[in-house]
Amino acid sequence: MKNDWTPVVEDKLSFGLWTVGWRGVDVFGGAVRDELDPVEAVERLAGLGAAAISFHDDDLVPNDATRDRVLERFSTALSENNITVDMATTNLFSSPVFKDGGFTSNDREVRRYALVKAARNIDLGVRMGAKTYVLWGGREGAESGAAKDINAALDRMREALDTLCAYVREQGYDVRFAIEPKPNEPRGDILLPTIGHALAFIHELDDPARVGLNPEVGHEEMSGLNYAHGIAQAMWQGKLFHIDLNGQNGPRFDQDLRFGAGNARGAFWTVDVLEGLGGRAPRYDGFVHFDYKPPRTEDADDVWETARANMRNYLILRDKVRAFRADPEVQQALAESRVLDLWESTLAPAETLADLRAATYDLDGLAKRGMHFERLDQLALEYLYGVR
Ligand code: GCO
Ligand code: MN
Ligand code: MN
Repeated sequence: MKNDWTPVVEDKLSFGLWTVGWRGVDVFGGAVRDELDPVEAVERLAGLGAAAISFHDDDLVPNDATRDRVLERFSTALSENNITVDMATTNLFSSPVFKDGGFTSNDREVRRYALVKAARNIDLGVRMGAKTYVLWGGREGAESGAAKDINAALDRMREALDTLCAYVREQGYDVRFAIEPKPNEPRGDILLPTIGHALAFIHELDDPARVGLNPEVGHEEMSGLNYAHGIAQAMWQGKLFHIDLNGQNGPRFDQDLRFGAGNARGAFWTVDVLEGLGGRAPRYDGFVHFDYKPPRTEDADDVWETARANMRNYLILRDKVRAFRADPEVQQALAESRVLDLWESTLAPAETLADLRAATYDLDGLAKRGMHFERLDQLALEYLYGVR
């Protein structure tokens, strides 16, 4: 196994501008780090081997007075550093007007303004080259039961998506939308809380082909769900448009740790799914995007160590899953566990249910036959623990 996990542009690694730029403000304390110039973010990320960057409207252009100048400096930095913009998104959560959400605020004026803010930043995202536009509805939700009619909120969310899809079609923009589910925080309960809810919702839209998902590791794990299984289903449905990789230690507040920290075992299987299970399933070929927060214990230099660590952990795990899948002992264990047999259809081509009903089954023999999964999992763990 090589021991230099320095990324190259072809690895398609990307960061949100708000990740390395996070100043450490949380519910109990203010900023611990200075503001980060977006140009410095581009230069430092390029120096570390990243290929792309993403932004919210407000991260990049917090005020209109300096908008043109900021965009000019940022565009120059992108081209000088060979960094592309893979994704853009709207901040519909920081301003006090969004206290009850954006697209699904009970306040109709706020909903109308939220659409205007999103459309304006879609124009900017497209101008910067983004092919994916993320919709994270952090404040689309409620703290209490009577405050929100969920049926109506879903109607309004659908209306927002249909309106924005129509807009990008009219403009001829080559952009797709990716919904990012999250169960709670900052709201007590958030609309479209998991991958499953979002996948089902997409099929109620006018233009479902243009809408997919941007699932985040921590958000699924906050609900105790298996992220690798979630993205595998999103891929199976052709809906994994983008990803937010980070780390989380089980159901608790959204930790946004660096990728590979927190649930390391989950991270191994996540990379395995993205890598296509050693050739049995399609690979994810989009940008590998990190959405984490350098903890507020870290200083300005530490931030770049954490950025580097996200990428190293991804590349280390990629090597490990590739070695795991290429190992003859693993292949034998997979066969003995009948993992490969699951790819075979249950009925043979000309067979019918009646044929199955006419056959006989050795239930005692089947009941006694072990699956040998523990041996298989131990092989994976030994790769993860670094002893194979
Ligand atoms: C979170 C979210 C956010 C969104 C981002 C895009 O950690 O709660 O992931 O970071 O991804 O703001 O809108
Ligand atoms: Mn995210
Ligand atoms: Mn998060």
